[in-house]
Amino acid sequence: MDLSTIYMSMKLRNPIIVGSCGLTGSADKVKECADAGAGAIVLKSIFEEEIESDLGNMAGDSAWYPEAVDYINSYGMQNAVSNYLNLLEKSKKAIDIPVIPSIHCFGKGNWIEFAKQLENSGASAIELNTFILPSDPRRTGRENENTILDIVSDIKSKISIPVSVKIGSHFSSISAFVKELDNCGVDGIVLFNRFFRINFDINALKVVDGSPFSSPEEVEPVLRWVSLLSPLTSCDISATTGIHDGEAVVKQLLAGANAVQICSTLYKNGLGVMADMHGFLADWMRNKNYNSIEDFRGRLSEKKSNNPADYQRVQFMKASVNSK
Ligand SMILES: Cc1cc2nc3c(=O)[nH]c(=O)nc-3n(C[C@H](O)[C@H](O)[C@H](O)COP(=O)(O)O)c2cc1C
Repeated sequence: MDLSTIYMSMKLRNPIIVGSCGLTGSADKVKECADAGAGAIVLKSIFEEEIESDLGNMAGDSAWYPEAVDYINSYGMQNAVSNYLNLLEKSKKAIDIPVIPSIHCFGKGNWIEFAKQLENSGASAIELNTFILPSDPRRTGRENENTILDIVSDIKSKISIPVSVKIGSHFSSISAFVKELDNCGVDGIVLFNRFFRINFDINALKVVDGSPFSSPEEVEPVLRWVSLLSPLTSCDISATTGIHDGEAVVKQLLAGANAVQICSTLYKNGLGVMADMHGFLADWMRNKNYNSIEDFRGRLSEKKSNNPADYQRVQFMKASVNSK
């Protein structure tokens, strides 16, 4: 059974990418993921602040939270750039599947030059984890979107390897924004980032970390948006969040994704879950008489659906009427 797929012009042996997380933060772990059957690896992100700090640009940027400056100083992250290039080079040597470094960014700056260094160090592509929490009431949504578009256009003008953008789902018109990313020449869109969450400890009356891991139910909103967006854009789509088993992989491919990214299930169920996913996908394809992923990819996207209304507002009306 041919499980290969094309993602951003890269041929992956299967559509399961290990997403950016602690499991891709060292070359040894990256090799373990590849040996367990990953189709590609996204390295743990380097933060824009770490790159700027290494460049000596830290002080004086008013956009920075003082906590970020303290964090970088106290954790001795000053060698972040060389460490990250080292991680990339060692990972590339250790495995023969695509290695995609990831930059966690929120604004345009000198750090953008780092993308060129990643390209020169053998990156197969670059993923930009764009994180602008829309919490500043002085900034409009349009300004936040323009920041991301500026970053992407600048990076695309400097490098020739593919660039993907990992975004959250909080845009007032995500379809329009994805079209704009498309127009900037982005090669891939990663839907969606699962931002770190907060929770409250009501006894200690303080803020604590929320769960870092997704649950399988979280796949549903992603499914809707992959179905709606995949026919709209010429960018390849990598679906992520809540993909915990082979069935969820099949669903995202049916929605039109070119590949999926997984993290939480690897932490919860171990790296062996990837072999289970391959097995499920191959069995399901055999049962349906599909020989390749292209035989069925996008079959349930909104455009190919017999009933596009299923993806739209009317679905809520039906559910509401039926619940009486
Ligand atoms: C422990 C942990 C660390 C993560 N670190 C990063 C990171 O450095 N960069 C990034 O883009 N996403 C990071 N993520 C988010 C994942 O790449 C992924 O988008 C998210 O977990 C949703 O996928 P999942 O449901 O398979 O976990 C992290 C996730 C976890 C659980």
